[in-house]
Amino acid sequence: MLLDAGPGTAPPRSLLILGGTSEIALATARRLIARRTRRVWLAGRPSAALDAAADELRGLGAQVGTVGFDALNCASHRAVLGEVFAEGEGPVDMVLLAFGVLGDQARDESDPAAAVRIAQTNYTGAVSAGLLCASALQEQRHGSLVILSSVAGERARRSDFIYGSSKAGLDAFAQGLGDALHGTGARVMVVRPGFVRTAATAERREEPLATTPEAVATAIEAGLRRGAATVWVPGSLRVVMSALRHLPRTVFRRLPV
Ligand SMILES: NC(=O)c1ccc[n+]([C@@H]2O[C@H](COP(=O)([O-])OP(=O)(O)OC[C@H]3O[C@@H](n4cnc5c(N)ncnc54)[C@H](OP(=O)(O)O)[C@@H]3O)[C@@H](O)[C@H]2O)c1
Repeated sequence: MLLDAGPGTAPPRSLLILGGTSEIALATARRLIARRTRRVWLAGRPSAALDAAADELRGLGAQVGTVGFDALNCASHRAVLGEVFAEGEGPVDMVLLAFGVLGDQARDESDPAAAVRIAQTNYTGAVSAGLLCASALQEQRHGSLVILSSVAGERARRSDFIYGSSKAGLDAFAQGLGDALHGTGARVMVVRPGFVRTAATAERREEPLATTPEAVATAIEAGLRRGAATVWVPGSLRVVMSALRHLPRTVFRRLPV
């Protein structure tokens, strides 16, 4: 389901992924490379998985570079991201902000330091990287900043309110940033997937309307084409969440969510 259609954009020629090993991001990269994307930067914490992801995308025909990026190290973001944007081979058409941690609600409730790391990764890190990328896209007068939010941010649940609250903050930030960029040639698209079957969620009880990284990738590509400001995956979640958001708390609290 796509909302807020405006002037759409063709699939990007160049793509910067923040969270370069994210399963959802890599499914998106594969899909976009099959369309038109030729240049990819994978920004992430250095690891064998990051190198393997770069090799895989190179095998699909893209020119791929890796960039050391830690969401928790905000002081480094300006230099790291500045380097990508300054590389001088044309504009960065799309930034996909995909880093994030789910955490372990039960454990993190009794470990505030761990809970803070979730908030700092998902929210604070995204505020820092998001503002820097938005400013660079604005300078180019062109480009999309696609931000992976979550339905978990729509209404706090007993079962994952630490993660959910970090995504609520991220989502509000992304919406406001989208308004700030309106009319500049740069834009923000907020993506709100429900439960996505990935390694990160493999140990969890699957939720209704569960989806796949490939389905999120398809929705991202369609959202870009349509110029959507908000994309739900699957689209039916928009209606479901609209109903859940308005349930009285006494009722919501008793739901098995
Ligand atoms: N899976 C779902 O059900 C679901 C649903 C809705 C929204 N989302 C959101 O979608 C995004 C991608 O999720 P995914 O399912 O693709 O999960 P994933 O495969 O676990 O990817 C998470 C990414 O975040 C990166 N990351 C974590 N901490 C970082 C840090 N401090 N600095 C830099 N990168 C860091 C990881 O890098 P490392 O390789 O270094 O760990 C990895 O690239 C996340 O924001 C997630 O919250 C996921």
